[in-house]
Amino acid sequence: MKTLVIGTGGREHALALALSRDPNVTEVHAAPGNPGIARVATLHRVDPVDGAAVAGLATRLGVDLVVVGPEAPLVAGVADAVRAAGISCFGPSAEAARLEGSKAFAKEVMAAAGVPTALCRVCDTDEEVAAGLDSFGAPYVVKDDGLAAGKGVVVTEDREVALQHAKSCGRVVLEEYLDGPEVSLFAITDGATVRPLEPAQDFKRALDGDAGPNTGGMGAYTPLPWAPDGLVAEVTERVLEPTVREMARRGAPFQGLLYAGLALTSKGVRVVEFNARFGDPETQALLQRLASPLGVLLKAAADGRLAEVAPPRWNGGAAVTVVMSAQGYPESPRKGDVITGIGDAEALDGVDVIHAGTALTDAGLVTAGGRVLAVTAVGDDLTDARDRAYAGVARIHFDGAHHRTDIALEATR
Ligand code: AMP
Ligand code: GLY
Repeated sequence: MKTLVIGTGGREHALALALSRDPNVTEVHAAPGNPGIARVATLHRVDPVDGAAVAGLATRLGVDLVVVGPEAPLVAGVADAVRAAGISCFGPSAEAARLEGSKAFAKEVMAAAGVPTALCRVCDTDEEVAAGLDSFGAPYVVKDDGLAAGKGVVVTEDREVALQHAKSCGRVVLEEYLDGPEVSLFAITDGATVRPLEPAQDFKRALDGDAGPNTGGMGAYTPLPWAPDGLVAEVTERVLEPTVREMARRGAPFQGLLYAGLALTSKGVRVVEFNARFGDPETQALLQRLASPLGVLLKAAADGRLAEVAPPRWNGGAAVTVVMSAQGYPESPRKGDVITGIGDAEALDGVDVIHAGTALTDAGLVTAGGRVLAVTAVGDDLTDARDRAYAGVARIHFDGAHHRTDIALEATR
């Protein structure tokens, strides 16, 4: 099977790496890719949100499967364009990707499907926002309705900050504050059959102890030894399957990866958000534990045959991912700092370095984005995987590098 991965980040590197390890996959192509992806795939230039260009590239390469990584191309209809060209594509249609592209739409689907989630109010005017904030009370949760590249959500005790964020957004969704640990549970679906993956947890705040601004994600680990028994079964029955059924009922079947961001509150499981694609950096950790072939799974989902293939199998042990970010991330990441030590890190047993914001220049490998790379390690258990990941981090250097030191720490206690 020939495959093409669309995107440039750590998630796409993890996907390309897992595809390259699938004996059924003969070729891995990626576009636009990054220097890490180039080690496991052949790179091509393409504008990832241009459906006609992506479909044209897939046709020229004669690939059997396109995997669209990020949300922006999905919301822009890139998967539709690829399928219209007669090529299998893992990833939802533009219509189905609205589950991520519009928070108000996601809320509407959840309500129709009876999925447990935070109470919410959709507001279009400052007056509606002010009234909504007062009725929910602090802490305030204000979400931009549309895609905002991780910057759309503000959670604050400060009413003025909440109002200002709402002003900068246009339509907003206000929510009841959800307390409790967060879990990411992903499912592969062909629009009918749902195959949950293992639960993972990511760390959204920039600094240790969940301080600092929200980021795209500073690290992740899987599995979650503290998660209640039956969590995956419960979320599959109460969240993932009803959502997939509701989308099909609306004539917008969701095929691809459904990402449920969950809060385990004192009142039970609640959906914090849906995404329409693999999470980053959870995917870096998760796929390192996948024991069954990824290409076979994604192709079956893309072709509506998911019920015919066995559910994914996982290696025992654990995986931990620690993101190293650039000077100034998330506000204004600096580019061009020379990166050294990746080879030394990867010489460690169980360690892979997944590239996100890197570029090759005359100066060598340099930083080229906020989240630069994700050091990912597998081990016998979380403590072991964590030790290995941080040993890898210690061997990598670039000026201004930052990482959290507490990824997966609490879960090892
Ligand atoms: P989202 O982009 O919707 O995942 O939101 C980003 C982060 O904001 C989440 O991972 C949560 O940590 C936080 N968040 C979102 N919604 C809520 C909520 N209703 N209550 C508490 N925290 C929330
Ligand atoms: N890990 C959070 C996200 O992918 O949105």
